[in-house]
Amino acid sequence: MYDPVERRNFYGRVHGKTLRASQKTYLEEDLGRLSLPGVVRDENPDRAPIDLTRFGGKPLWLEIGFGGGEHLVHMAATYPEIGIIGCEPFVNGIAMLLGKIRAAGVENLAIHPGDVRDLFDVLPAASIAKAFLNYPDPWPKARHHRRRFVTPDYLAGLARVLQPGAEFRVATDIPDYVRQTLEEVPQAGFTLLDQGDQPWSDWISTRYEQKALREGRPPHYLTFRRNA
Ligand SMILES: C[S@@+](CC[C@H](N)C(=O)[O-])C[C@H]1O[C@@H](n2cnc3c(N)ncnc32)[C@H](O)[C@@H]1O
Repeated sequence: MYDPVERRNFYGRVHGKTLRASQKTYLEEDLGRLSLPGVVRDENPDRAPIDLTRFGGKPLWLEIGFGGGEHLVHMAATYPEIGIIGCEPFVNGIAMLLGKIRAAGVENLAIHPGDVRDLFDVLPAASIAKAFLNYPDPWPKARHHRRRFVTPDYLAGLARVLQPGAEFRVATDIPDYVRQTLEEVPQAGFTLLDQGDQPWSDWISTRYEQKALREGRPPHYLTFRRNA
């Protein structure tokens, strides 16, 4: 059972290098309109399920930790018949995404500029038809493995909001992350459908994947299905 908690530690970076003037403009002009209301605790202390009618009943997908947003915008542009929610607390990444949204002119997406666990609290149960976890933070030290996304708390939140039969895709360049994913995700109510070094046919390589390739770490792709 997924249990919304009062406070959470977030260990990643929220701010990076100084934003360009254009990026500040994107944040000021576009972020409010694209953000989902009722996700943060101040706006919704009772953690009531949020209203998703803005998507007009389209199937809803979710990307966790979109980084610079290349995969999120690519999916929104490739599949206009779906709605996609992207989640990312790193402000520089959000600003990069907003620039890409303007350039691509896509409308079928929304953002939560924060921790995905806050979104898990308030998304209606079984509201998401597909989820993407591209290059989650690796947390290489053994004592930090419990901070990884593929741990019971995060996965319980994800499992709750996914529809039975929903696809869950994971891409990583870290062999020990593959090991933990294969161990933990099935225990959270998922079945492994496929894994290997070949990406999905609609994949677009992300900034982090490009960095991993430059540094000689090969990608690994895993596909799970949420059990019925
Ligand atoms: C290694 S980066 C990969 C970014 C992007 N997916 C890519 O492939 O280029 C991992 C991202 O996950 C984000 N992240 C970490 N914990 C998160 C959380 N609890 N909720 C949402 N995003 C999170 C980080 O801020 C970071 O941008």
